[in-house]
Amino acid sequence: MKANAIVLPSPALLEIERDRRNIEESLVAATGERRTRIDDAARHELLAGGKRVRPLLSCAVLRALGHDPTPFIDFIIAVELAHTGSLLHDDILDGATTRRGLQAAHLAFDVPTAILAGDSLVVLALERLAHGAPPTLIAGLCAAIKDLCAGESLERERLFDASVKIAHCRRVNRLKTAALFAYAAEAGAILGGAEERESDAARAFGSALGDAFQMTDDLLDFRGDAIELGKPIGRDLVMGMVTVPLAIALERDPALCEEVRCIWDGARAGDELSPRLLRLRDRMVRVGAFAAARRLASEEIARALAALDGLPSGRWREHLRSLAQAVIQRRR
Ligand code: FPP
Ligand code: MG
Repeated sequence: MKANAIVLPSPALLEIERDRRNIEESLVAATGERRTRIDDAARHELLAGGKRVRPLLSCAVLRALGHDPTPFIDFIIAVELAHTGSLLHDDILDGATTRRGLQAAHLAFDVPTAILAGDSLVVLALERLAHGAPPTLIAGLCAAIKDLCAGESLERERLFDASVKIAHCRRVNRLKTAALFAYAAEAGAILGGAEERESDAARAFGSALGDAFQMTDDLLDFRGDAIELGKPIGRDLVMGMVTVPLAIALERDPALCEEVRCIWDGARAGDELSPRLLRLRDRMVRVGAFAAARRLASEEIARALAALDGLPSGRWREHLRSLAQAVIQRRR
């Protein structure tokens, strides 16, 4: 199991480990051909590890519908290829220095190489599907990628803006993260030849799960452990992003705006920000912002669990239930 895999509360099932191994092998094979440095950068990012939560979600839905995912693995990994491509671009946009515990690819290589590696991974994802996957999967992945771009754009339009509202942050999260989770879950159902009712249930499950996943990510930016996460604490905020917990805090205590602007000014001046970040975090605790964000994430998990009623009962539906709980309990 990868060091940063989500730890499931239930004893790990042998089949999950097999799916995980198949995913890794298929990812290695997909990026095996080396023509230029672009391929090295793509492999750097892709094989640095990762939770593989999206392809594992497709596998779990397939299993819940009574199918072995193995024959579909080359289609299933498309979602991880596209996701990794988006991370290569995201780290350039964010000016991030690390990813998955390694130096970000635009620093380990250079910006043009990382841009092209991101492009090539997205094309590789679609190419996988073009070789025999149901056409609805190609259309679904294209729609999810468009949502990712829209979410990223909306987030960037409001950088360093302390007036951002909770609803805006949630819309961004739905587009930039929940869309690909929804696709991953629905892809499992489509590959399993599910009825429309089951595909809709899988999609609703994935969407709510993705929303909770991103909200947990936003919380971890303030509360996580830098080593476990593989990225520094307070990074979103320092980059000018107002995410759900901060938007809640700003709405509850508008005087915090000044504190946040002071951090942004300090970031521009290159100041040591730890004392200010810790002070802000204390004030966010006092106004109950983290508890409220955790409640919102739990509400999404409740929605995800309700959607599961639309899938056949059995141990794989129970596994999806455990996966949903693990997503909000994760520390990385
Ligand atoms: C990570 O989120 C980034 C995303 C979920 C999406 C990034 C999307 C794009 C750059 C646009 C799409 C591009 C392509 C090539 C498909 P985060 O920034 O909240 O998390 P982080 O802290 O891990 O960076
Ligand atoms: Mg980012």
